[in-house]
Amino acid sequence: MELIDGKKIAAEIKQELADKVEELKSQGKKVPHLVAVLVGNDPASETYVASKVKSCKEVGFKSTEMRYSSDITEEQLLEVVDKLNRDEDVDGYIVQLPLPGHISEERILLAIDPDKDVDGFIVQLPLPNHISEQKVIEAIDYRKDVDGFHPFNVGKMVTGLPTYLPATPAGIVELLTRYRIETRGKHCVVIGRSNIVGTPMAVLMSRKDEHADCTVTICHSRTRNIQEITRQADILIVALGKPHFVTAEMVKEGAVVVDVGIHRVPSDKTKSGFRLIGDVDFEQVAPKCSYITPVPGGVGPMTIVSLLQNTLKAAQ
Ligand code: GUN
Repeated sequence: MELIDGKKIAAEIKQELADKVEELKSQGKKVPHLVAVLVGNDPASETYVASKVKSCKEVGFKSTEMRYSSDITEEQLLEVVDKLNRDEDVDGYIVQLPLPGHISEERILLAIDPDKDVDGFIVQLPLPNHISEQKVIEAIDYRKDVDGFHPFNVGKMVTGLPTYLPATPAGIVELLTRYRIETRGKHCVVIGRSNIVGTPMAVLMSRKDEHADCTVTICHSRTRNIQEITRQADILIVALGKPHFVTAEMVKEGAVVVDVGIHRVPSDKTKSGFRLIGDVDFEQVAPKCSYITPVPGGVGPMTIVSLLQNTLKAAQ
């Protein structure tokens, strides 16, 4: 079993980016500028944004954090987006998700059982203080959309055109590539179908590309006999957001396991009283793997590096 050291690879790429910034400076060019918009004070979002800003500093990018309170209206947030679109000094920006108190009308409508849609019950719309994440994402100028969330960029990714790739899936492809893990013709099983990770991950792994070219299966909350499917995986990518969901019986001997989950759980073995764990029960699963990503220090550091790579691309 070999550990996939995301922290080490991320440090290498950061050095490459820092060298690039020095080169831009020596040519008298402007350094890339990333803006992160943070609404409200969700602790996880605060941590992510702080970490993005810190990483920008490390590689010599300019970064700006823009904070708004959670009672900002959709209209006000769309004005912020419009300003960022027109600000020539800003190369790329992100709006950290989830937006606070955000109830996704889209998801609620999708969750209604089709059999009950007509005469079962109704959900009166609009929901109170509803900021549509979708509306905000669509308002972002696709050329500055370094998250790769805009439908135009999603469409480009799906059709294999060059674009900003979503950070977590792109970071995972980069890890598999740098560890020279054979992917061609392999069965890749992705657990989770979110717009941010599962869905784009499945798309990237199925592309006709030296570092992908897999047969891909997506598993999700409605999948039956999930273990039968995950046991077929040569490469298992886990992004469903449930601590220790994947156990040893679910994994084939010799599989490559990539754990996207990150959960803070109480622990009496650490000074802080907490420890971080993933969606995979690492202790049980690791002995069966050819490669596995740890949590922390696996996928997490790569996500930020992908965002920096997209920001450099935006500046160029
Ligand atoms: N929330 C969780 N992951 C992400 C991400 O990659 N980008 C943004 N904007 N929000 C997130």
